[in-house]
Amino acid sequence: GPGLLSLDDLDEAQLHALLTLAHQLKRGERVANLHGKVLGLVFLKASTRTRVSFTVAMYQLGGQVIDLSPSTTQVGRGEPVRDTARVLGRYVDGLAIRTFAQTELEEYAQYAGIPVINALTDHEHPCQILADLLTIRENFGRLAGLKLAYVGDGNNVAHSLLLGCAKAGVSIAVATPEGFAPDPAVGARASEIAGRTGAEVQILRDPFEAARGAHVLYTDVWTSMGQEAETQRRLQLFEHYQINAALLHCAEAEAIVLHCLPAHRGEEITDEVMEGARSRIWDEAENRLHAQKAVLAALMGGR
Ligand code: CP
Repeated sequence: GPGLLSLDDLDEAQLHALLTLAHQLKRGERVANLHGKVLGLVFLKASTRTRVSFTVAMYQLGGQVIDLSPSTTQVGRGEPVRDTARVLGRYVDGLAIRTFAQTELEEYAQYAGIPVINALTDHEHPCQILADLLTIRENFGRLAGLKLAYVGDGNNVAHSLLLGCAKAGVSIAVATPEGFAPDPAVGARASEIAGRTGAEVQILRDPFEAARGAHVLYTDVWTSMGQEAETQRRLQLFEHYQINAALLHCAEAEAIVLHCLPAHRGEEITDEVMEGARSRIWDEAENRLHAQKAVLAALMGGR
């Protein structure tokens, strides 16, 4: 059924239509109405942006949200996902789910019978990348023909960026330390898509090579509250992958800097760049709201 589990669920035309709808909703050129609709939020992990932007998006569209976090439902006490999904699907009109395994998200989608939206898994973060592409399009007035450089950890955000950039015709170079490259299957899929859209996909080691000629520099956290020993190991391995003035100097003169947040200043990005003239990070965070309104309207709006 309909839903947004991966950016690969959207074809190129659907991606562009969603970004256009988000842009129009943001500017008040179009309205969408979800009066009477209820979105359930199933969040197994902490969230500022995703949780708040989905909640406010539903309120602004005239709908409502209900918190279905596992600590408050029987899922936290072992009720199977498939049973939970079948029941929730009879009460609410959509689910936004933040969990670990992509397969768990897929199980919700298989059994709920209502739209399920990926609010972050270990494999992908599609809603984030819709906001990123909206921000890039706003800034440059186009997407096709641009180049984005992602430096750091080849994680869920990198996966969705690979797919989203390839679909949007944005060339993407991902530079990571050895052992932290994105899933090769995602890289291969992005290359296949890029073959159709004229974009280029590169998986690299050297962050400076990635940044050369880039219109967008992008990074994400290196360490998310892991064990202390692992944190120290990562800080060393990722040392040369920081977005700083030197890396920015390698990119195009009009290049912008994005970060999905939360940021660790002094680790993956310097305070100077975050607060500098090329940063579009706060617009990017705002655009989570507009991009997700478009997703909610498209998936739950009905006609
Ligand atoms: N970028 C992002 O998903 O932020 P949160 O974890 O705060 O939702």
